[in-house]
Amino acid sequence: MEYPVYRPRRMRKNPNFRRLIRETRLTVDDLIYPLFVVPGEGVKEPVPSMPGVFRLSVDNLVKEVEEVASLRIPAIILFGIPESKDEVGSGAYAEDGIIQRAVRAIKEKGIDIVVITDVCMCEYTSHGHCGIIKDGDVDNDSTLELLAKTALSHVQAGADMVAPSDMMDGRVARIRSVLDENGFSGIPIMAYSAKYCSSFYGPFRDAADSAPQFGDRQAYQMDIANGEEAMREVALDIMEGADIVMVKPALAFLDIIQRVRTQFDRPIAAYNVSGEYSMVKAAAEKGWIDEKRVMMEILTGIKRAGADMILTYFAKDVAKLLGA
Ligand code: PBG
Repeated sequence: MEYPVYRPRRMRKNPNFRRLIRETRLTVDDLIYPLFVVPGEGVKEPVPSMPGVFRLSVDNLVKEVEEVASLRIPAIILFGIPESKDEVGSGAYAEDGIIQRAVRAIKEKGIDIVVITDVCMCEYTSHGHCGIIKDGDVDNDSTLELLAKTALSHVQAGADMVAPSDMMDGRVARIRSVLDENGFSGIPIMAYSAKYCSSFYGPFRDAADSAPQFGDRQAYQMDIANGEEAMREVALDIMEGADIVMVKPALAFLDIIQRVRTQFDRPIAAYNVSGEYSMVKAAAEKGWIDEKRVMMEILTGIKRAGADMILTYFAKDVAKLLGA
C-alpha cells in the first residue's frame, strides 16, 4: 500500500497519536551515573572539560550518591584517583584504597543503589597504562593477576558489580574464578567487551588523571575501524562469564550496539563517554544547540540501537527532566 492510500502522517498528527506509536522510551531505569572519587575531605573540584562533573572526596561522594538514589537512578559506576601512583598501580588493590573506602562509606550509609566499580590500572599507574609494563608494552598475563586482586578487593569492600575496562585478554575469566573461589559467585561482571581506542575519552583522562605518559592504548584497545573483531570480543567475554557486555563509546559505534543486539543474548550496556558529553555541553554553551533535546535524542538513539542500559554523565539531568 502506498500514497495516497497509506499516509504515515495520519499517525503523527498530535501528541497522543505519537505516544501510541512510539517505539523507544528512555527511562530512568536505563541509567548508570559515573562518579569520580578523590582523596581528601570536603573536595568538590569541577572538571574543566566536563561542565557539571566534579571530582568528589568520599564525604561529598556519599551525599552525591544519596541524591542520585533519590532521583531513582538504579546504579552508579565509580572511578578512583589515588593519593599516589606507582609502576604497578598498587593503589588499585590496596585495602584502604580510594575506591575501597568509597564503597564502604556508601554501603555503611545503606544507600539503595547498585554500586559498580570500574576495574582498571590506568588511574593508578605512574605511566598511565592499563597494566604492568614489560619491554615497553603492557604485559597481559601479569596484569590479569592485578586486575583479579583489584576486583576482589572492590567486592570485599561491598561493590555490587565489577566492570573491567582494561581490555586485557582473559580478564573476565580470571576475575570470575577469583570471585567464585572467594565466595562471591553471586556478584556479576559487566565487561567492557568492545572498547575502542577512541579519541572521545580525552575529557575523562583529565577527570581521572589517567592519560598514558608515553605512547597510546592501540596495543590493547580496539581499532575503531573494526566490527567483526567486536563480535569476537563479545563472544569471548560471554564464554568467560560476562553478565553484561558493553560497547564503548556509543555514538560512533551504534552499528556495533545493533549487531551485538542481534547476535548475542546478554544485556547490553553502552557508554556515552566523556567526549560525547563534552561536545554537547560545549555547543550548548555557545547557544548552538538545544542541550536537553540533543541529550534526549542521543540517548534515545543509543537505546533504539539496542542498548539496555546507558552509562552517561547526563543521568541526573535525564532523571530530572523525566520527573523521576
Ligand atoms: C579506564 C577507562 C577509561 C574510560 C572508562 N574507563 C579511559 C580510557 O580507557 O582511557 C573512559 C570513559 C569516558 O571517556 O567517559 N581504562
